[in-house]
Amino acid sequence: MTMGTSEAVLQVLSGAVPHLFGSDPCFSKSDSIFLSRSYIRCRKKRGSRPMQLLNYSRMLKSSINIHRFPGVGRVLYGNIPIEQSAFGNYKCQRAESASGVTAEDGNGAWYVDNAKKFSTINGMVNAPNVLELKKVEELKQEKEGFTSNGDVPATGTGRDTFHKVSIDPIEDEAWELLRESMVYYCGSPIGTIAAKDPNSSNVLNYDQVFIRDFIPSGIAFLLKGEYDIVRNFILHTLQLQSWEKTMDCHSPGQGLMPASFKVRTIPLDGDDSAMEEVLDPDFGEAAIGRVAPVDSGLWWIILLRAYGKCSGDLSVQERVDVQTGIKMILRLCLADGFDMFPTLLVTDGSCMIDRRMGIHGHPLEIQALFYSALLSAREMLAPEDGSADLIRALNNRLVALSFHIREYYWIDMKKLNEIYRYKTEEYSYDAVNKFNIYPDQISPWLVEWMPNKGGYLIGNLQPAHMDFRFFSLGNLWSMVSGLATVDQSHAILDLIEAKWADLVADMPFKICYPALEGQEWQIITGSDPKNTPWSYHNGGSWPTLLWQLTVACIKMNRPEIAAKAVQVAEKHISQDKWPEYYDTKRARFIGKQAQLFQTWSIAGYLVAKLLLADPSAARILTTEEDPELVNAFSCMISANPRRKRGPKSSKQTYIV
Ligand code: GLC
Repeated sequence: MTMGTSEAVLQVLSGAVPHLFGSDPCFSKSDSIFLSRSYIRCRKKRGSRPMQLLNYSRMLKSSINIHRFPGVGRVLYGNIPIEQSAFGNYKCQRAESASGVTAEDGNGAWYVDNAKKFSTINGMVNAPNVLELKKVEELKQEKEGFTSNGDVPATGTGRDTFHKVSIDPIEDEAWELLRESMVYYCGSPIGTIAAKDPNSSNVLNYDQVFIRDFIPSGIAFLLKGEYDIVRNFILHTLQLQSWEKTMDCHSPGQGLMPASFKVRTIPLDGDDSAMEEVLDPDFGEAAIGRVAPVDSGLWWIILLRAYGKCSGDLSVQERVDVQTGIKMILRLCLADGFDMFPTLLVTDGSCMIDRRMGIHGHPLEIQALFYSALLSAREMLAPEDGSADLIRALNNRLVALSFHIREYYWIDMKKLNEIYRYKTEEYSYDAVNKFNIYPDQISPWLVEWMPNKGGYLIGNLQPAHMDFRFFSLGNLWSMVSGLATVDQSHAILDLIEAKWADLVADMPFKICYPALEGQEWQIITGSDPKNTPWSYHNGGSWPTLLWQLTVACIKMNRPEIAAKAVQVAEKHISQDKWPEYYDTKRARFIGKQAQLFQTWSIAGYLVAKLLLADPSAARILTTEEDPELVNAFSCMISANPRRKRGPKSSKQTYIV
């Protein structure tokens, strides 16, 4: 007898978390040093982690004493590095570095080798490199003996080294700007500021460290072998997770990660001559529109995995507090609600598009990040009795989520024609048109736009509503995470190639296509003057998306597509001063209200370059289904009355 789908899935997957950790994770000496320089504000935290909170508050008391700068008349600002020697008894300590190898020895040679490789991709990217080849050759000889094997380098802090071996002026500039955007806390780097335009006074909240914006910065640093900033970011934002946060007396769930935080320097209580630094998070309670950033925690998990994979330092993900942090995020996402769908139900503006754009419901971007975070967490969670239920829920969700998205979000010519001929008002368990989509919803633009070859995942699916807009980040990250099947992923790339003039044009990459115009713009955005048609979130073009495009292309073994996009960006992104976004249908103007020197535009470009130079490094971001999930998925497909895909597995591990 064959079991029902969900039972089968359960049986296949129970206890399926890989056993990564042999030893009992506990605090090391260095961890307690790290905690001791945690924020003073932690005293206000609620007791979500009782055991460690005891530790923290004890530590924090002492940290009040060691954070004084008696007699120092200077106020410290978060984004200005603190010269430790300048402060008498300032005792903040750096997190230990992951290995002893310096960039001086490792990075430089690696960089030169790969930059050379990159310059030959398609014979077109990085033209300036060619001019520099002689210099590169000389440097290479100089460095002989230190050369790495082309893998991700060991570690280091290669600022000076970089300048010695760098071969591309745009990249050079980008690294310099990225380093200038670094934010320090107690003398250690913990993130990068969202934008740093020296000539702008209108900074809004761009002087904060945004979680989502830091991801490309973090990846760039990881790929460069500079692990400390990423480790610090991970551990400090983890502390912010259990911050007391309320809006008009209501508190959101405990696993929520902030959208952003700021390092503030304030006078120490009762002592006018001393200052202390505190981290001040924003969970959306101050953000424009008061939106909770659902994506922050998901990105945090993805970065945590990338850190471990790149640095080889698994001690961070093994820590008790980090494991607890992962579980808190998962619990928040996996909590039961009123939902019929396995997709995450969120409000408008809960991700990169952080203001009203009609993406409330089950937007693709959140689903792709959710899937990616679930797979990443599955890899990192230490097996223990207490989390068996959570792991079971996680496994079930992975299968149901991938089935739902692959099946119901996918459109191409064939599917569109199917929808065009849909019957409606089907009341039954095996309806074809499950969500009661009225064919009239297929807009004229889509009929024109859909290429014969290619397809994509739609932006959102609700009862009687398919949002047919193409949202780039959701589609790109569906490829990276494997939420889209291999065939679907290739079809998405086919579509990107076919629609190059719409999606890339003068600057990669359109955030969504097409823009909302006229009455639709009025009703859906609330007549948002920042989101006018073909501007900002409403069909604007965002250079930061280059890095996600690059990871997706590399995963699908089609890096030349990303290389071509990088080449487009390189034509003027530096002259334009690294804008946050571009406007107009073809991305011809720097965005109306775009910040300049936007850090994630800079970092996104750098990550794209670094990965194209060493495509194998993209594995720190990509995830694959393991055989157990594939098995469970095919079991689910065969249990679906509507579609039977592929042969049943011959290994009937899920038969009672
Ligand atoms: C804008 C973007 C958001 C980003 C923030 C900081 O609000 O919509 O995605 O995180 O700016 O750059």
